[in-house]
This record gives sequence, C-alpha cells and structure tokens, in this order.
Amino acid sequence: MNSTDDSSLTHLDYCLTGPGTVGGRYMRRFWQPVCRSEDLPGERALPIRILGESFTLYRGEGGTPYVVGQRCPHRGTQLSVGWVEGETIRCRYHGWRFDHSGQCVEIPANSAAFAASMRIPGYPTVERLGLVFAYFGEGDPPDFPYPDFVGHGMVETRVQELGCNFFQSYENDWDLYHAAWTHRTGGLHIPVDPARITFEETAYGVVMRSVRETGLSSTSVLLLPAAIRLPVPTHNALAYRKAGPAWRDTYLFHVPTDDENHLVFVTQEVRISDDELPTYRRHYADYLAERTAMPVKEYGERIVSGELYLADALNHPNLVTLEDYIAQVGQGRIVDRSQDHLSRTDKGVMLLRQLWLRELRALKEGKPVKNWEPMGERPDAEAVEAVLRHEGTGVRKPIGV
Ligand code: FES
Ligand SMILES: [Fe+2]
Repeated sequence: MNSTDDSSLTHLDYCLTGPGTVGGRYMRRFWQPVCRSEDLPGERALPIRILGESFTLYRGEGGTPYVVGQRCPHRGTQLSVGWVEGETIRCRYHGWRFDHSGQCVEIPANSAAFAASMRIPGYPTVERLGLVFAYFGEGDPPDFPYPDFVGHGMVETRVQELGCNFFQSYENDWDLYHAAWTHRTGGLHIPVDPARITFEETAYGVVMRSVRETGLSSTSVLLLPAAIRLPVPTHNALAYRKAGPAWRDTYLFHVPTDDENHLVFVTQEVRISDDELPTYRRHYADYLAERTAMPVKEYGERIVSGELYLADALNHPNLVTLEDYIAQVGQGRIVDRSQDHLSRTDKGVMLLRQLWLRELRALKEGKPVKNWEPMGERPDAEAVEAVLRHEGTGVRKPIGV
C-alpha cells in the first residue's frame, strides 16, 4: 500500500525537517520543547540542536530561559561557552555581548553604534510543564497549546534520545496495537482488538479511544505536530517497587535533533502525598542510578546491532522504553515507507500520515493549514481520572527477573 496519496509529496516530506523543507516549515509553526527545566541551572548556557539547526540556550539571572543563535558573529565562537550576565550572554572569545532578542549590546573597544549594527537570531521561549519550549517559526508564536496538569502533583521529566527519525516514534504513539507485541517480553503486554480503537479529529487534536481485552478503557489525545497526552503506567523499576502512583498523566513530545536522531521529552504528573514523598524520592534516586548505569540508547543500539540480546537485558529499569527503542530504531534510521504493507492494525498510522500530508500539501500550495486550538478541557475526563486512580499497573515483571 502506498504511504502517500499525493504524488508531489513523499514520506520523506514528513521526515525531513531541516531549514527550508516543507516538513521543517510545518514543525517550525509550533512550540518545540528543547530542554528539561532541571537541566538548565541559573546563569548557565547550553548548546542545543533542534530541527537540524544549532542554538544557544541560557537562563538569565532572573531565572528566565532564552534561546539565541549558536555562534558569535565576530569570529564564530559558540556562545554557550561564554558567560551569562543579567539577562544577556557574553562571548568568551573577545567579550561581545547580546541580549535575549539577539541584539548586540556591547562590543569591547568598539563604538556603541557598531554594537547596534550587529545581531544574532533570538527566539520566543517559555517554560511550562517542567520543560523549556522555544518557537523557531516566522512571525508571532501561537498561543501555548499544552495545558498544565490538574492534579496538583509533582511534575517529573525525562528525556530520551533515539537514533532514528522522529516520525517513527510519533507513529508509534498512534499505534496502540504495538503494545501487545513490542512489550510482550515483559513490559506492558495489554492486548487490544484493532476494531476497538477509534479516532476522532477535534479542534485541538485527535482523540484516540480504546478498550483493552482486560476491559480497561483509555483515552489519549494526539496533538499535532508530534505530541500526545495520555495516562501511562509507571515504568518498570518503580512499578516493581510499588513506588508512587500506578499511573501518571503524561505528555510525550517528539523533537528531531536532525533527520536521523530525535529526542522524546516526557513530562508526567506524579500524584503523591507529602507523607509518601521521602520514600518515593529514595526509590526514584535508586531508579535514576540504575538507569544511568544502563543507558537506553547504548543498550538499544547494541541489541539492534546484534551484540546483545534483549533476553539478556530483562533487568533493564526502563524495559518498556528499551523495547520501544529496538522496535523503532529497528525500522532503520529513516524507514522507507514506500516498502510498507499496511494492515488493519495500522489505522492510526494511516490517519497520522493523512493528516500530516493534508497539512503539508496546504503549506506547499500556499493554502491555510489548520490552526489547532489549545487543548481545553480534557475529553473523557472522568474516565481518564478513573484510570489515573487505578491500582493495577498492567506492568508485569518479565519472566526470569
Ligand atoms: S568570537 Fe565572539 S567576541 Fe570574538
Ligand atoms: Fe511502546
């Protein structure tokens, strides 16, 4: 089955997101997460790579994060190795200084007029949901579309790098059926009849509803261009310890670093009482130590290359993430969708491709694209709350662990 219904667009159009590409133009119309808040301390700068371009991310003395161009226009030094001064950043090489809009405000040993004539790009930035987001498109950014969590819990974030194109892992969000097989080894094996998965396009996204064979119903909201909000069972290592709640209100954001690599930012609300917090924090610290000792990307690449068997890594603290890694990276760095043979289990994947193609076609032809509204009240809120209160996780220990 062809992966596109429009001969002027191919599957590569939604994979390639570098500057000037139609996919890149589409992605740049949206706020993109670029860093976890906790990875950017005050008065520090970081180099970041997003959508095939490099930038400088820094946090001003007042606590606000900013994104400006990567390099100093004097002789090209990377600004992230410089100093944050107030709300500005100073280049380490010869001291040129820029404000957060990218305007040069000082050139030592030179005139103010020379400084006023120099600038680098500056990008709108916001900090929400435990993440820093930036807008890389033209004109004013859209309203921030992702509402805060409502349960007044603790916000926990993670970021995972995958060695494949971002669209592969976003397709996975639309592919609920994969859980029955990808996570069969020991993570999250919850069979679902494809006929009991439905999709409804709304003003803010696509609502995916399902009823699992266990009777558990679930509602996820797929938010274009590449995000999802859904209840997620607590990951393996914490679930085994019964640390924290069994389910978490979760956003996943898929962001290309370049065309063959991407980041998945995860932000979750952990609803936990003050009494439980100290114990939970101890478990979480242990979990992070285990996770650091067994990096998902390293283990995933070793399994895909044949150097390691998944069966020999069943004690991995993020087994579910590792299973997803090897399935998605196992498709290749950029899967050739012209070779797909789609089936009735791929309803969501087909719909995602149709939606992206619809929007890319409009963009390419200079026609209006859909302005997705910010997500308001959560659909099926009562049912979702019931899932978030659910005691059983559905996460099983793998056999032999
Ligand atoms: S290279 Fe930045 S001030 Fe010279
Ligand atoms: Fe998965």
